[in-house]
Amino acid sequence: MSTATESSAAAGLRGVVAAQSAIGDVNGEEGKLIYQGYDIHDLATNSTFEEVVFLLWNGRLPSARELMDLEKELRANYAVPDDVLELMQRYPKDADPMDVLRTSVSSLDFYDKDGHGTDREAALRTAIKLTGQIGTIAAAWDRIRNGNDPIVPDSTLSIAENFLYMLRGEKPDADEARMFDIALILHADHELNASTFTTRVVAGTLADMYGAVTAGIAALAGPLHGGANTAVMKSLLEIGSVEAVDAWVEDALEHKRKIMGIGHAVYKTEDPRATWLRKFSKQMAEKKGESKWFDMSQRIESLMHEKKGMYPNVDFYSASTYYLMGIALDMYTPIFAVSRISGWTGHILEQYGNNKLIRPRAEYIGARDQKYVPIEER
Ligand code: COA
Repeated sequence: MSTATESSAAAGLRGVVAAQSAIGDVNGEEGKLIYQGYDIHDLATNSTFEEVVFLLWNGRLPSARELMDLEKELRANYAVPDDVLELMQRYPKDADPMDVLRTSVSSLDFYDKDGHGTDREAALRTAIKLTGQIGTIAAAWDRIRNGNDPIVPDSTLSIAENFLYMLRGEKPDADEARMFDIALILHADHELNASTFTTRVVAGTLADMYGAVTAGIAALAGPLHGGANTAVMKSLLEIGSVEAVDAWVEDALEHKRKIMGIGHAVYKTEDPRATWLRKFSKQMAEKKGESKWFDMSQRIESLMHEKKGMYPNVDFYSASTYYLMGIALDMYTPIFAVSRISGWTGHILEQYGNNKLIRPRAEYIGARDQKYVPIEER
């Protein structure tokens, strides 16, 4: 389109406004996050994940009746088709949970007769199915790979309670259920992050919602995006003790290795989600009488602030929180997806509602005026 001398594309599209959206807004300077105008702290304090799902999809808080109806519909869709679970039994037991999630969510499309509808009514039906089913798939895989039968979802439970129940085989206590529900609220939407942008690009071609969400899961899996939470816990395990933190951080910085869970493409101050997860990590440390992971995290946080002026992001303290909840490391990113499905589907609904194919241009920096040389002369 243009030459390198005329313009220079923003690396990683930083600061480029690529869509209009009423769903969520990140104020990176002030460390503020809103969903449909509501501050994340207000929602985390007062709301439930299901209520936030309604908010993201409809642009307003529900009445008591509307919330009850949505909860009922979501719960009626917790179960996944038997075929999907049977197929999962044949996957290699060491398959990455995000790969399994991607493949299985993609296959849900076969069992949804109007899953390709892009009008609001049909797309909303699919959004409800996906939001109800994604946790069942994620939890089922953790059971299957460990040689256990998947636990049948319990439609008397909320999404947060039901997920922990299906994953761990017992219903969570009220404190853990609420903590996890808030974690789902915190991860629900984050404006045009990489996976959400991906879902909008796919939906913008008027491809079906299953395809768009499958692509979103693929994007979320990367260690620079949703995969960072697992990477944080791997780092903590590798470091092993509070005493070893300083030398480890020093070495990482010296060798220009990124410290996972630190830094953000938009926030230049504390990520407001990290404020909550720091609290949960501490809470779990006290509950389990094991403060090592929280203490190590705090030390890393203060060193990174002191040396680089950087702050923890959403993934940093979620790692130690989930670890002490007894959740396998590689399930942290699927948990992110169990929540982010609400933001993805909200953005897809918004995209379908006012669609324009997303088709940017590249700044061509290759050669021009080359003449074809026959292969035998090269
Ligand atoms: N640890 C150490 N240094 C870091 C860092 C980290 N986690 N994140 C960024 N930096 C440094 C980079 O090395 C770079 O330094 P340089 O200018 O000396 O080369 C500088 O900060 C800018 O980094 P860059 O990756 O270009 O910034 P960004 O805005 O694109 O980064 C992230 C955003 C999230 C990709 C980046 O901070 C990161 O990779 N963090 C770790 C992964 C993570 O937690 N991801 C989850 C995001 S929610």
